[in-house]
Parts: sequence; structure tokens; C-alpha cells
Amino acid sequence: MKTAITEMFGIEHPIIQGGMHYVGFAELAAAVSNAGGLGIITGLTQRTPELLAKEIARCHDMTDKPFGVNLTFLPTFSAPPYPEYIAAIREGGIKVVETAGRSPEQYMPALKAGGIKVIHKCTSVRHSLKAEQIGCDAVSVDGFECGGHPGEDDMPNMILLPRAAEELKIPFVASGGMADARSLVAALAMGAAGMNMGTRFIATKEAPVHQNVKDALVKASELDTRLVMRGLRNTERVLNNKGVEHLLEIEREKGRQLKIEDIHDQVAGVYPKVMIDGEMDAGAWSCGMVAGLIRDIPTVKELIDRIMADAERIIRQRLTGFLDGAEQRPAAARAIA
Ligand SMILES: Cc1cc2nc3c(=O)[nH]c(=O)nc-3n(C[C@H](O)[C@H](O)[C@H](O)COP(=O)(O)O)c2cc1C
Repeated sequence: MKTAITEMFGIEHPIIQGGMHYVGFAELAAAVSNAGGLGIITGLTQRTPELLAKEIARCHDMTDKPFGVNLTFLPTFSAPPYPEYIAAIREGGIKVVETAGRSPEQYMPALKAGGIKVIHKCTSVRHSLKAEQIGCDAVSVDGFECGGHPGEDDMPNMILLPRAAEELKIPFVASGGMADARSLVAALAMGAAGMNMGTRFIATKEAPVHQNVKDALVKASELDTRLVMRGLRNTERVLNNKGVEHLLEIEREKGRQLKIEDIHDQVAGVYPKVMIDGEMDAGAWSCGMVAGLIRDIPTVKELIDRIMADAERIIRQRLTGFLDGAEQRPAAARAIA
């Protein structure tokens, strides 16, 4: 399949693996790129720019295909040295950076001077337009369904994607709630040039996380995520667990007086406990509603091959079948998972 995104990034399939804290290591990024998608290493999971440089080198050892690095500009307890991270990215020969959180405007000259294509993740049309205006090459349009930070507009992809298509000139991928061929075909129908998946890629053989995390995703339904940190305007969609229930209790008690320090134990340092040690009740870790569509733990290649084969079937049989009157089975799309 060829789209503006496959052509821009030099990849076979229009599928991107979004940056994920403590998940987006070289193993997963290389597996996604080797399977024809675009794998992404999560820059800030590497505690220093030197460690990021090593992780990039490790990924080059595992794949000859293009892969990217995610740089997230979110409020943190201490600001990372972004210029040094960008230097490591440039020196590592990386040609795609996924930015997220705050606008990457001040870092665009450094990224562009390195010949890097920038895809910025946005949860609104206005932020997408701003990304286009500051010279981003593409946008990852992230709906309210998404795991991680959905922003404060609560706009689901059914509206957000067609609105982005109406306004944007640069290509965009659909992000948030994407799991399978049905997601990909629907995203393409709404004007996207591909899709970005986070949560779905955690439940794969190669994702370098504890088996408990993968099993929890298979077990979870679409009702099992919660929104935390709303009151701080730093909303995050996470998988519910005992730590999250405690966090929500604190949020309810503190109300408008809530400060980030009040929930420090439930949000800081949680990722290694969950992803490495498999402590599933440790606190808040990002997870999308799409957990309700995850039923197995395939290899990344099995997942991507299945998505592309099913997408072709949906387009050639189901959709064109409607046009010539041959396709009337409402269950046909349901069989694809
Ligand atoms: C465990 C986890 C950690 C994430 N960490 C980051 C991150 O560090 N930076 C970022 O830009 N996005 C992060 N995301 C968001 C993903 O890149 C992606 O945009 C999101 O997962 C898409 O929604 P989906 O989970 O429904 O596929 C994370 C998502 C998950 C599930």
C-alpha cells in the first residue's frame, strides 16, 4: 500500500509505532521497522543523551530499515536537556522524529538542519495547524480514545480525523484507538494517510515488557481505562488498577486544590515497576481504550501482516462489494480482529 506517509518515511506499510515510555526500546522499534512499519524509540526513556545514542546504535544493529525517535515535551519534575538529545538523534543518523506534548517550535531549526522529518502528535485541529505552520512534515492526530495524553478537548477520532482532513495540507496519520485493519481502512476513509498505534504494539511478542502487562491488555475491556490528572490540565488515559483508584480518590478529596505533589507516588517512577517488574497495581501507566480490541499476543510481523492482508480484503471485497451489491453480510467486518 502506498500513501503520502509510506513515501515520506520510506516504509512499506502506513503503520507507525508511537513512542511509549519504557516500551519503545530498540527491540520493539526494530521489530516494527523490520515488519515494514516505522518503529520509534522513546527518547526520554533513556535517562541521558549518551544512553539514547547507545539505544539508537543498538537499533541500527537490529534493522537496516528506517526508524525514528520520539521526543516528548511534557511537564516533568525536572526538564531534560533537549538540545543534547537532539544532537544524539542527529549523530545517530535518525531521519524521523516524532514530537509530542508542547509545540516543538524552538527545536525545529536543529531538527531540520539534521535533515530530519518531524511528525508532531496533536490532539486538536488548531495544534495540527500550528504544527503545519512551524514546518512539521506530518501530524499524528491523536483522538480522545488514545492511551497517554489525549489533551483537554475530548474529541474522538470520528470527528477529529475528518476535521483534520478539512484543514491540513500536510499528511497525517490517525492515532488513538487503532488496533487492526478496520481501524486502518476507516482512518484512510476519513482522510488519514496511515495509522499510529501505541497500546496494540505492547501486546506483541517483541515488546520488551513484563508478561503481566501483555496479559493485562488481553484481559482488559474497553471500559477499563481511566482519565487521571484532569484537574492539572495534564490529562492521561491509563489502565485502571489499585494505584489508579487511590490516585482518583486523592483527586476527589483535594478537588481544585490538587497539586502534582499530592499524587507523586501514583505517577512518578511507576513505569519501571509496571513494565520491568510486572507490578500491575503500582499506579498510572498509559493505556488506550483499544485494550478492548486486543485478544492475542502475536509477533509484530504477524500483527502487521494480518492488518495489511485484512485491509486489502476489507477494501477489495467488503467495500467494493457494497458498490456492486454483492456484499451484504454485516458480520464480515466483525470476523476481523
Ligand atoms: C504505555 C504507553 C506509554 C506512552 N508513552 C508516550 C511517550 O512517552 N511519549 C509520547 O509521545 N506518547 C506516548 N504514548 C502515546 C503513544 O505514542 C500513542 O500516541 C498512543 O498510544 C496512541 O493511542 P493508542 O494507545 O490507542 O494506540 C504512550 C502510550 C502508551 C500506551
